[in-house]
Amino acid sequence: MFDSQIQQAIASLNREGVVAIPTETVYGLAADASSDKAVAAIYAIKNRPVFNPLILHVEHGEQAFLFGDFSPEAQRLAKLFWQPGTPAHRPLTLIVPIRRGISLSKLATVGLETVGIRVPDHPLTQALLHRHGRPLFAPSANMSTKISATDASIVQETLGDKISCLLDGGPCRIGLESTILDTTIAPFSLLRYGGTTLEELTSVCGYAPKLSSPGSVMKAPGMLKKHYVPSLKLKMNQTEPKEGEAFLGFGQISFGPYNLSVSKDLREAAGNLFRFLYALDDPQRFSGIRVAPIPQEGLGWAINDRLERASCSE
Ligand code: TXA
Ligand code: MG
Repeated sequence: MFDSQIQQAIASLNREGVVAIPTETVYGLAADASSDKAVAAIYAIKNRPVFNPLILHVEHGEQAFLFGDFSPEAQRLAKLFWQPGTPAHRPLTLIVPIRRGISLSKLATVGLETVGIRVPDHPLTQALLHRHGRPLFAPSANMSTKISATDASIVQETLGDKISCLLDGGPCRIGLESTILDTTIAPFSLLRYGGTTLEELTSVCGYAPKLSSPGSVMKAPGMLKKHYVPSLKLKMNQTEPKEGEAFLGFGQISFGPYNLSVSKDLREAAGNLFRFLYALDDPQRFSGIRVAPIPQEGLGWAINDRLERASCSE
């Protein structure tokens, strides 16, 4: 079963097709890293702005070092955080200069001199990368600006008719995208909050990388203010329910059946976030979505970041 799924996925990649892949964070839509044709198909499927670059997914650090020029400090982070299959692994995308002379789709890097690279931690995708032998460009498997998919069934429902191959790896363990760190400047700067916490980065870097303000540079072209947007209006930091609106609780602030984590476990909350938003985003049942306050610590930074973008109506 496992093997035939992988074989089918590899056949798709070799035909320059697009394959939906599971990762520890969210599902991705993957293309062979040198195929402009497959990368173009990803942009078309997602209706993604063509100036927004894709992350390169590699099997391990050694493969990453063939495609990016890692400073010694960036290498140190890669070795510490990229340990798929072990509890030490963290979802971290490192922005590094592209190595000269290598073949990467220019559509995917949108002409930048840098590339974001990460090692996905999921046995199916690890097996796919291993067997394919080449890295994959992959954005999250959702329509541009919409909620990321954290289960194969959601990918099937939202993009099923547009993709030829979906590797079903079950629900994503973390449920929030990778943290993005720009290592091309000193000190390193944070481009996106995600599944690796600021505390974890600080303990390794020796300082807390600062968030580079969106819009100030083209560094994080994908950090659009409006993102992860449900069709219903979303309000965060709510402590009261409202007639007709869904309520997504946290801890004791809870009304109705949906609670990100009754025990205030931010990991559990991160894992539930996109799945619950997807389930509640139903105009037949609700007129809006209210979300309880989430503490600004650990994974709470990334959860609040996603909620802020989801509540943006511009
Ligand atoms: O967890 C994840 O990172 C997921 C899974 C599928 O791996 N992927 C993901 O990809 O979230 P995507 O395309 O939805 O978000 C990638 C972000 C975008 O905001 C993009 O602008 C930024 O990474 N990015 C990619 N390459 C970059 C670069 N060279 N410089 C700055 N930002 C970059
Ligand atoms: Mg995305």
